[in-house]
Amino acid sequence: MKAGGQLPIRTMSESEAGDVSALLCRCYAWLGAREGLSQRQIEFLKSERGSLETVRRESGEETYLVAQEGAAILGMIAFRKNRITKLYVDPLHHEAGVGRTLYETAESAIRSQGHTTIELGAFPIAVPFYEAMGLRVVGTKEAGGELAGFSIALMEKRLEG
Ligand SMILES: CC(C)(COP(=O)(O)OP(=O)(O)OC[C@H]1O[C@@H](n2cnc3c(N)ncnc32)[C@H](O)[C@@H]1OP(=O)(O)O)[C@@H](O)C(=O)NCCC(=O)NCCS
Repeated sequence: MKAGGQLPIRTMSESEAGDVSALLCRCYAWLGAREGLSQRQIEFLKSERGSLETVRRESGEETYLVAQEGAAILGMIAFRKNRITKLYVDPLHHEAGVGRTLYETAESAIRSQGHTTIELGAFPIAVPFYEAMGLRVVGTKEAGGELAGFSIALMEKRLEG
């Protein structure tokens, strides 16, 4: 088993919101560079989706889980009902099983809440990862606002009983 498979996954505490915000901002910079986003779009993601205020607000409305190694948070996943809204792993710790461990923990929680499908919208770079998790692309959505012109893959997985 990869190292990520042994990491503890738990609910984010309020005092960790700043660390998770910093993780998201690092991930958006990494993602933006690979997806060809402009600096303005990267700053939009950091300020709108990765800010401390956003993490504090969303974690009151959604389930926010973190993967921890020692004092460091290596990754996070957020979901609301059957929709995964965020999944980000520190770029220094990609391809070590952290994303799979976070995803499987969230899928198990979503399943135990009685949902029969999982849904999410994925940046193109994350599609192969989600396909490895058993999701399939069911459509695309054009992003609006600051991310206009960018295509988001709509993905779904049917959960077997
Ligand atoms: C997508 C992301 C969460 C994956 O996390 P990760 O910890 O690197 O992934 P893992 O190491 O757990 O990989 C799990 C499986 O997915 C596969 N996988 C991951 N990335 C892949 C890729 N680009 N192409 C093909 N397979 C991939 C791995 O081979 C692995 O398969 P295995 O377990 O059978 O060996 C991570 O790369 C990330 O944070 N990316 C930037 C943010 C992002 O795009 N998040 C999603 C927002 S929509």
